[in-house]
Amino acid sequence: MSLSNWFAAALVLVGVGGVALTSVWAGEPEGARVERGRFLVTAMGCNDCHTPLALGPNGPAPDMTRMLSGHPEGLVMPPAPALPEGPWGVIASHTLTAWNGPWGTSFTANLTPDEETGLGKWTEDEFVATLKTGRHLGRGRQILPPMPWQNAAQVPDEDLRAMFAFLRTIPAVKNHVPQPLPPASVR
Ligand code: HEC
Repeated sequence: MSLSNWFAAALVLVGVGGVALTSVWAGEPEGARVERGRFLVTAMGCNDCHTPLALGPNGPAPDMTRMLSGHPEGLVMPPAPALPEGPWGVIASHTLTAWNGPWGTSFTANLTPDEETGLGKWTEDEFVATLKTGRHLGRGRQILPPMPWQNAAQVPDEDLRAMFAFLRTIPAVKNHVPQPLPPASVR
């Protein structure tokens, strides 16, 4: 075969490979989907706020025994201290799971599959709708900062579905996260 024929054959193979990949995507095996979800959840930094930080030998680190279980229910937060006149505007617990700013106080959600306190009863569609609209279950109250749902809303539905598939596989942690509190000025 001449060099140009090799090249043509290679192009055909790449083309066929592309088609094959597309069809794998359409009916992707569950393991690959979960693995993609794990990659996305990790790379998009969901652990940064949804896994409590604990003090370890190398300083604060995500406590993976409580992976993605949100603000620990045992850590009852006193009212947030008033901040001096700007430019400081936000304050957080040492776990980085409770946040106070002009929106009030928000607590990071439990993303584990626990039925009562986590996403156990959520459907895949509700998860996607939440991240696309910035509303609880896609139809409830508005989600407060610093949840970066506007970033997640850019992610294709298929990838959000993969993230949900991964979240289904992590250990369920029973941890009841408190409701957000309004700003002190309107309390
Ligand atoms: C900078 C911190 C931060 C990061 C990073 C973050 N979250 Fe959140 N998330 C929050 C906070 C705070 C809340 C609670 C907001 C509220 O109560 O309104 C929340 C709430 C949620 C909720 C619950 C919404 C509801 O209606 O109950 C889901 C689902 C969620 N986050 C998923 C994710 C996923 C998936 C990622 C990674 C792509 C992520 N979060 C990254 C802070 C964060």
